[in-house]
Amino acid sequence: MALFIRLLILHILIVVVPISSFIHTSTNSISSFRQNLLNQEPQRTRIYEHDMQKIQSRKRKTCLKSLEKETEKNLSYIPRDIQISIQTNGHKYYCEQCAVGFKKLKNFQEHLIGKKHIRVESEWASAKGDYISDAPTWSNNDNVDDDGTNDNIDVCTLWRESEISTFPHRFSCIDPSVKISNLSPQLRARFWRYLRDSFGKHYPELAPILHHVSITFPQYLRVKELFESLESFKIVSSVIIMAQDAAKSAGSESSSSKENIDTIYDLACGHGLVGILLAYRFPTKKVVCVDLEERESFHAFKAAFTDLGESYRGAIPLSNLEYRGANLLTVESELSESSFLVALHACNEANKEVVDMARGANAAWAVMPCCIRSKLYLGGAPVLDLDSESRYKVLSGAFAEANDAQVIRAISRNITARPILIAGGFPGKFLNKDSRSSTPNRHGLL
Ligand SMILES: C[S@@+](CC[C@H](N)C(=O)[O-])C[C@H]1O[C@@H](n2cnc3c(N)ncnc32)[C@H](O)[C@@H]1O
Ligand SMILES: [Zn+2]
Repeated sequence: MALFIRLLILHILIVVVPISSFIHTSTNSISSFRQNLLNQEPQRTRIYEHDMQKIQSRKRKTCLKSLEKETEKNLSYIPRDIQISIQTNGHKYYCEQCAVGFKKLKNFQEHLIGKKHIRVESEWASAKGDYISDAPTWSNNDNVDDDGTNDNIDVCTLWRESEISTFPHRFSCIDPSVKISNLSPQLRARFWRYLRDSFGKHYPELAPILHHVSITFPQYLRVKELFESLESFKIVSSVIIMAQDAAKSAGSESSSSKENIDTIYDLACGHGLVGILLAYRFPTKKVVCVDLEERESFHAFKAAFTDLGESYRGAIPLSNLEYRGANLLTVESELSESSFLVALHACNEANKEVVDMARGANAAWAVMPCCIRSKLYLGGAPVLDLDSESRYKVLSGAFAEANDAQVIRAISRNITARPILIAGGFPGKFLNKDSRSSTPNRHGLL
């Protein structure tokens, strides 16, 4: 019996305890497995995300590759030079010299043998040399080549009006304090290109004249004033020709005694560059510049034109130009139908005074107002809530209407925030033709 009891205990020890402990361990393992599973879940998700990212990036790469292949396939039909042209110029065929693009090779080839291209190409070849001889000190800088220019300097590409925006600006206009001598060599070269393309055909001497002033009186060559005067001069010249044409046709249609314009007044002329340009442009007309304040800059510009300008029929350049340090009102008594009155950025009442005088004498006029008092034209209606530029436009409109304007034009808004030119007083019927085609040709219509 004792042996039986001992054997029973031994059985319990050998068989039952391990089984129960197994059962216990198993239960433990199952719960820890479940726990592990729960614990591992986030990790598995991370792994899943990582896998997905890998797959996606592989997919993306494949996509990009197939896109590249596709593009290559498409571009492989286009010759390399055309691909480059499309990428750099936006056109299949592009003439850099003339800055024009073409869709068809045939048109491009026709262009290359055309008159315009041949002229531009020969100019392109001579541009560097012309720049150096016109304005030798403008190309001078520390990093210049043996030929006096810097490779970054572009004097060959035709001038585009939009380039005005590349000159130093303050607020929304060209900085009034910047002089030609302050410009980078590149911008000075572009200014020369502007002179060549805008005036060179008729006045190749203009660039050497302004270059001369830049040496003798560099303080007077302000970029804003130059663009402002040169661009206004172009418009005023064409308006004078319009007025003259109108006078001629009115004279032939009726018994009107109106003669061609014989005297141009640049009233409130300031530095007087516009009056000087007009006197040079119209050598057979008298030009009178009037300002309360006599400026040295006027004489500096005049001297350069007299020294380097071209004489007309043997006369010294600008011998038709007169300066008066006086109030603009003093010219009233001498005005006639043959007068033409110009006032650019004359302030406040001065615009009105000039147009009143012109209308009183039945003369033609052109003004570019800067400040206009609302009470002068809108019966005192206050102009409220408008920013300064909108106010300027509204009042310019009122000014034009009140004075029966016949032409309204503008110079670039990048040059000045007061760019509107208003003109009128032409005899005969209202002229509505586009005057922009008139070039400042000195030896053409005088
Ligand atoms: C803003 S500047 C314009 C100068 C020039 N016309 C231009 O566009 O650069 C205005 C000029 O008007 C002149 N001025 C103002 N009232 C005048 C008057 N009653 N008679 C003559 N000049 C006058 C001033 O002396 C000044 O030179
Ligand atoms: Zn070309």
